[in-house]
Amino acid sequence: MPDPVIEGYAIVSEDGMLADAAGVMPQGLVFEADQRFFERGLGAADLVVHGRHSREQQARSAERRRLILTRRGPGLEQTSSEPQVFAWNPAALAFEDALEAFTAPVTRVGVIGGTDVFGLFLDRYDVFYLTRAPGVRLPGGRPVFPEVPALTPEEVLARHGMVAREREVLDAGKGVEVVAWRRE
Ligand SMILES: NC(=O)c1ccc[n+]([C@@H]2O[C@H](COP(=O)([O-])OP(=O)(O)OC[C@H]3O[C@@H](n4cnc5c(N)ncnc54)[C@H](OP(=O)(O)O)[C@@H]3O)[C@@H](O)[C@H]2O)c1
Repeated sequence: MPDPVIEGYAIVSEDGMLADAAGVMPQGLVFEADQRFFERGLGAADLVVHGRHSREQQARSAERRRLILTRRGPGLEQTSSEPQVFAWNPAALAFEDALEAFTAPVTRVGVIGGTDVFGLFLDRYDVFYLTRAPGVRLPGGRPVFPEVPALTPEEVLARHGMVAREREVLDAGKGVEVVAWRRE
């Protein structure tokens, strides 16, 4: 099976957080234009990858194939067959081997967090869509990558061979922008 395209999606506060200190994503990080961008992106994916606390809530969510990360279990356990959903322990089974469990080929993967899931794929993203929520700070919150806040999210992406390419204004009035970071 050829390697799938791997895309990451995150919206972060000015200090690089994806949720507050209690692990809750506050309303300050929710923007309709970003939600639409995110929904469009996942609409083109044929597999969604996320941690146990990060499922997206979109009209087509119930139809999506998933790998849900866990540190428990033997490697891969199917929890639904239609669509195929697996609990995946990456310490026990490689990503490529987990993909083999899907009956139809996986061609485009959407990685949607949280922190350690985004961190796990840092050397593998083809593109990471990083949206900034202007004017929001979440000190002590859950960072987008494990290295934040020692480094900014942009520094982390750059250290992993990614380059800022297209910038798209999602909501000019609210100053919400997404930058597509692509592998150099
Ligand atoms: N702003 C954004 O773009 C964005 C994106 C994603 C999430 N969020 C928000 O962030 C909060 C949750 O973040 P989170 O980081 O706590 O949650 P998370 O990654 O969704 O879930 C954490 C759980 O997932 C499993 N897990 C995560 N990384 C793993 C790894 N590398 N290897 C194996 N298992 C792994 C573990 O499950 P076990 O306990 O089963 O071992 C862990 O307890 C939520 O409020 C969510 O809405 C925001």
